[in-house]
Amino acid sequence: MVKVWYNDTESGQCLNNDKNSPKFISVEELYKKTGVEYFKLNLDTYKTDGILDRIKKERGYSYEDEMVCSKECLDYEEKSMIFATEHLHSDEEIRLFLDGHGYFDVRDCCDQWIRIEVSAGDLIILPGGIYHRFTFGSNHYIKQRRFFINSPVWRAYNRSAYEMGRTTVS
Ligand code: LAC
Ligand code: NI
Repeated sequence: MVKVWYNDTESGQCLNNDKNSPKFISVEELYKKTGVEYFKLNLDTYKTDGILDRIKKERGYSYEDEMVCSKECLDYEEKSMIFATEHLHSDEEIRLFLDGHGYFDVRDCCDQWIRIEVSAGDLIILPGGIYHRFTFGSNHYIKQRRFFINSPVWRAYNRSAYEMGRTTVS
């Protein structure tokens, strides 16, 4: 079962002691609060069982690619900085995790961070316009498929820059 919880530290660390035990929520609550959608796929069968094909068809995902990032990658430090910086995109962000481990943080309507732990088989869809960030898990490795409606839009609007009245491209 995917874990989703309120993550009320700015540092991105999970509060996991008795005094501050994390407040877990369901994927239904996650959707109600943020519009983020979650699907669990079976990675042994996803290429042929029709579930991903149906999602792609229904939602019009016409472009996809695969991305691997690990500590051995030359751009690991740069990538992890970009991912961990709070940002939004005009389009949906659609990711299927094939391997590895990490955390998406998304803001709810009260600007509180909600953390979603993702690993192999998790398909997550962040609506356009939602502030989010991503942190690698302890193995510093992800392998994911990225989907887009029409052509890929990579532009990220960093919140800090946006609030200072400008945007950046990453
Ligand atoms: C991205 C993620 C990690 O924009 O938020 O690729
Ligand atoms: Ni993003």
